[in-house]
Amino acid sequence: MNYRHSYHAGNHADVFKHAVLLRMSQLMQRKEAPYCYLDSHAGTALYDLQGDASGKTGEYLDGIARLWDRKDLPLLLQGYVNSVVAQNPDAQLRYYPGSPQLIAGGLREQDRMILSELHPVDAATLREHFVGDHRVAVHQRDGYELAKAFLPVAEKRALWLLDPPFERGDDFDRCLASIQVGVQRMRQTVIAFWYPIKDERLLREFYRQIAGAGLPKVLRVELTVRPADTSLGLNGSGLMLINPPWPLWEELEEALPWLASQLAQSGSGGWRLDWLAGEP
Ligand SMILES: C[S@@+](CC[C@H](N)C(=O)[O-])C[C@H]1O[C@@H](n2cnc3c(N)ncnc32)[C@H](O)[C@@H]1O
Repeated sequence: MNYRHSYHAGNHADVFKHAVLLRMSQLMQRKEAPYCYLDSHAGTALYDLQGDASGKTGEYLDGIARLWDRKDLPLLLQGYVNSVVAQNPDAQLRYYPGSPQLIAGGLREQDRMILSELHPVDAATLREHFVGDHRVAVHQRDGYELAKAFLPVAEKRALWLLDPPFERGDDFDRCLASIQVGVQRMRQTVIAFWYPIKDERLLREFYRQIAGAGLPKVLRVELTVRPADTSLGLNGSGLMLINPPWPLWEELEEALPWLASQLAQSGSGGWRLDWLAGEP
């Protein structure tokens, strides 16, 4: 396990993933009924953007730093940017919330969170951060086991972020297998699976497989900050959303062109939004 999210916190991929994730949780909370948030590769709760790791890459400068004081945000981004602002009450951008803290910020008394993180340091920090909060359970265990271990949940409504580090060649296969287990165990689970846009050949195969996997509804959302075939590294990222809540589509249609233009790093950024399965 070499991947450390502290090098990448707040970059363009985090902005995109976190804005969509938070909006999905807000839409699910329109109903009073409780829901359970599952985060299989949770990372930690707060990242220090002035720490050594962020300082080495400076990735957040082309991510959250471009947006956090903007007043003309599309609806999809407003709650997300407010959450980052809430972590920095002195108006200096320093602390960035990881996915567990982002969701915890809006968790109601009736909701619950299950977090798994394999790295011992991050798991311990996460546990300490949420100590005393009876709604949050932290497990130091393999996130790919999460669906089998915890689904179905008693609440009957679940939002699951599947956000692995993509350190291995078979990550797409493992994720698809894990998603299938999740949906078999609880068909209505709302899933956000994050993936990098780097290797077009791998992606084409993944699209083919997920479209044919018998999943209920699959919405593909992508944001690129460079042409997708640039061999520099992370050109963009995608989210496969299984069972996304309504009216996310309309909000994404408004937000994606805006985000692509604000986060572009060379030339113009790009975006994509389409159904791979079960278009309503
Ligand atoms: C992309 S980061 C997570 C970022 C976080 N979800 C967020 O959005 O703020 C991936 C995390 O997965 C952890 N990890 C790696 N392999 C894992 C595994 N098999 N099970 C659970 N966590 C794992 C890494 O330590 C890392 O913290």
